[in-house]
Amino acid sequence: MPISTRPLTDSFGVEIQGVDLNADIDEDTFAEIERHWYENGIALFRGQAFTEPAIINFCRRFGELEIHVREEYLDPHYPELLRVSNVVEAGREVGILQDKELGWHHDQSYMKEPAIGSMLCAFTLPNWGGDTSFANLAVAYEALDDQAKARLDGRRVIHSYSYFNGIWSVPTNDTQTNRTPDVSQPMVRTHPITGRKAIYVDPAMVPMIDGDDEEESRELLDELFEWIIKPEFVYRHQWQPGDAILWDNASTMHRRESFDPHSERLMKRTTIRPKPALAVPF
Ligand SMILES: [Fe+2]
Repeated sequence: MPISTRPLTDSFGVEIQGVDLNADIDEDTFAEIERHWYENGIALFRGQAFTEPAIINFCRRFGELEIHVREEYLDPHYPELLRVSNVVEAGREVGILQDKELGWHHDQSYMKEPAIGSMLCAFTLPNWGGDTSFANLAVAYEALDDQAKARLDGRRVIHSYSYFNGIWSVPTNDTQTNRTPDVSQPMVRTHPITGRKAIYVDPAMVPMIDGDDEEESRELLDELFEWIIKPEFVYRHQWQPGDAILWDNASTMHRRESFDPHSERLMKRTTIRPKPALAVPF
């Protein structure tokens, strides 16, 4: 399958053209896709005629798929797919997050062994809004001077799902809360595949630096939160039906704009675990 690429920004992100997720993708082509994804942090595939089994089979080639802790929002036929949506069926919200604006975060950073990737597929789009922005935190780290890097290297931060919890319209139940205790992660994470270092903090999941007092924590984190969303580290994606974006959770974070609450938005997401040989011992 011949593929071609188009950069999405000057420093990261790539559109990979010529890929049909429903077709057989040979090993060489897949290896090329995987390389482009890791090198660029996010990979966009346009014009897809989505079928759930094909999405799952494609994503499984990157690593085992995680069944998301919010099981009430899983696709009832395909639990590997988390529905991100404001659709209501028979009085019940079928998807997570509904129509709210959603702040910068990494997926699954609150897990001891965080997922390496996610792929989000646009099934139904609203009349307006709902753009997703991505920030590349490897690029943001590399742009720091040596002194600033030295302030971060070797430190750890707390990633907390319960800190994030305030935005859910349906709070986690006791089982879900027990499955997601706070975890300590390195403040700078080395990518298991590329070896690139990336800042591993975000405003939604990280309430504090591990071991620092609150004031000291706040000061450094606020400085970092301002740095990592500088426009030169960010790509904002305006979705088209049939778009799929595969993102690397180790080196990018993302956020979503609010959208027209009177129209429907239905997205389906996989969550990809690192291949066992590449899992990072935190
Ligand atoms: Fe997310």
